[in-house]
Amino acid sequence: MAMERRLVLLLIFLCCYLCPRFADAYDPVDPLGNITIIWDFLNIDTTSTIMVSIHNYQLYRHIEQPGWRLGWTWAGHEIIGDVTGAETTEQGNCSGVHFVDPAKPPHCCDRRPVMVDLQPGTPPDKQVANCCRGGVLSSLTQSNSTATAAFQINATQVPATRSMVDKLRHVQALLTWQITCSYSQFRDGPSPSCCVSLSSFYNNTIVGEDDDEQSSKIQALRDDGGDPPVVPVLRCTEHMCPIRVHWHVKQNYREYWRVKASISNYDVVSNYSDWNLVVRHPNLGNITQLFSFNYQPLIQYGAAINDTAMFWGMLNYNEMLLQDGNVQSEMILKKDPSEFTFSGGWAFPRRVYFDGHQCAMPSPDHYPSLPNAAARDVHRWLLTASCLLLLSSMSHVL
Ligand SMILES: *[C@@H]1O[C@H](CO)[C@@H](O)[C@H](O)[C@H]1NC(C)=O
Ligand SMILES: *[C@@H]1O[C@H](CO)[C@@H](O)[C@H](O)[C@H]1NC(C)=O
Ligand SMILES: *[C@@H]1O[C@H](CO)[C@@H](O)[C@H](O)[C@H]1NC(C)=O
Ligand SMILES: *[C@@H]1O[C@H](CO)[C@@H](O)[C@H](O)[C@H]1NC(C)=O
Ligand SMILES: *[C@@H]1O[C@H](CO)[C@@H](O)[C@H](O)[C@H]1NC(C)=O
Ligand SMILES: *[C@@H]1O[C@H](CO)[C@@H](O)[C@H](O)[C@H]1NC(C)=O
Ligand SMILES: *[C@@H]1O[C@H](CO)[C@@H](O)[C@H](O)[C@H]1NC(C)=O
Ligand SMILES: *[C@@H]1O[C@H](CO)[C@@H](O)[C@H](O)[C@H]1NC(C)=O
Repeated sequence: MAMERRLVLLLIFLCCYLCPRFADAYDPVDPLGNITIIWDFLNIDTTSTIMVSIHNYQLYRHIEQPGWRLGWTWAGHEIIGDVTGAETTEQGNCSGVHFVDPAKPPHCCDRRPVMVDLQPGTPPDKQVANCCRGGVLSSLTQSNSTATAAFQINATQVPATRSMVDKLRHVQALLTWQITCSYSQFRDGPSPSCCVSLSSFYNNTIVGEDDDEQSSKIQALRDDGGDPPVVPVLRCTEHMCPIRVHWHVKQNYREYWRVKASISNYDVVSNYSDWNLVVRHPNLGNITQLFSFNYQPLIQYGAAINDTAMFWGMLNYNEMLLQDGNVQSEMILKKDPSEFTFSGGWAFPRRVYFDGHQCAMPSPDHYPSLPNAAARDVHRWLLTASCLLLLSSMSHVL
């Protein structure tokens, strides 16, 4: 058991090492978020039956179409005789391999098998629990029951490559496996970047991200043999962002204020299913009413800080952000008299993430301002903003 745990840790380590996002991935919104891959050896013999499971322990990041891929390199000359709940992308060269039943050739003889999930509707005899969702993994918050994937393989060591004296030694051999895992959001599609725009009832300016800011980054993808990235087909706009999140400070009441939040998809081809939006703002611990979206606070540091909210669509209503479409919501927040203010850009979010990707924000000194904004308040806000900036570059270093 202890050995198996060590194996698992080794795999996670390699995974972190190999996925660019994980390498610099300290995330203050989801500090424990991770993807854990477990190889469970149901038996250890010349043919091992291994249950492989992939757990998405991320509160708001999910894996969308075209789904995950999991690859590794065998240490010896193992072949995959059979697999249920997934399949390899290639069979590899089985010509030098002697197998018992000529009518049933091995599933994969490749030294570097790459697994992909099966589609929904796979016949039951080809399924295991948690398989066959086309590689899609939900975020833990949106649906913990579909945040796990699994498949089972029968791996046979081709004789004469290594003698198996006892269980321990075999497990030690397993520890030498070199595992490559990646999830295909990086490989198969450029991460959708997004931009935030802001407006308010007290100023008719709509502020978008700065022109010189690189808003529509297409993430550089490693050339590791995956499918070519899907390039977004964007409606032509000034900002050229695939996704724009707009935060409008709509109304002021005596004890409450109202915000309208909308998300527009400028990609004329891709839909975002099960999209989610994460927003940080000090008043989000005081949402009293929310329309049209699901909501859950993301509380990471005890109950002390309740300033981050995760929003996602309602089933069969707006859980799909359609190509060239938008989804929107309004919320009513209770004012905390000790800190509430419309001045200095306080009413605008501090950070916004769409589908796990941090959105580009306008520069704070361009925020819509009160007609008679006191310079002192702006100054105070700018100080806060530069502290946030410092913190974020520190977490980058970490
Ligand atoms: C991964 O997430 C799980 C669930 O939140 C947590 O228990 C575990 O400690 C995390 N693992 C790592 C290596 O961060
Ligand atoms: C692997 O082999 C075992 C024993 O031969 C069998 O029970 C199991 O169904 C096989 N699994 C797969 C994925 O073929
Ligand atoms: C497949 O393997 C056999 C034996 O190992 C080798 O002779 C043959 O050249 C290989 N074929 C390819 C296409 O690599
Ligand atoms: C999954 O979510 C349900 C309902 O939201 C909850 O009761 C259950 O404890 C959760 N399971 C895990 C493993 O987090
Ligand atoms: C997006 O959704 C629309 C409407 O359901 C559908 O017609 C279209 O084919 C979808 N696009 C993709 C790329 O799946
Ligand atoms: C706002 O929320 C915080 C924490 O969630 C709470 O301590 C505070 O009393 C709330 N303020 C109001 C005005 O409801
Ligand atoms: C956080 O704020 C929400 C309201 O926005 C409230 O429902 C929830 O109880 C708060 N949680 C804590 C731990 O204060
Ligand atoms: C609206 O905000 C912009 C940006 O801060 C500012 O330049 C402009 O003067 C404001 N408009 C009014 C009417 O105050």
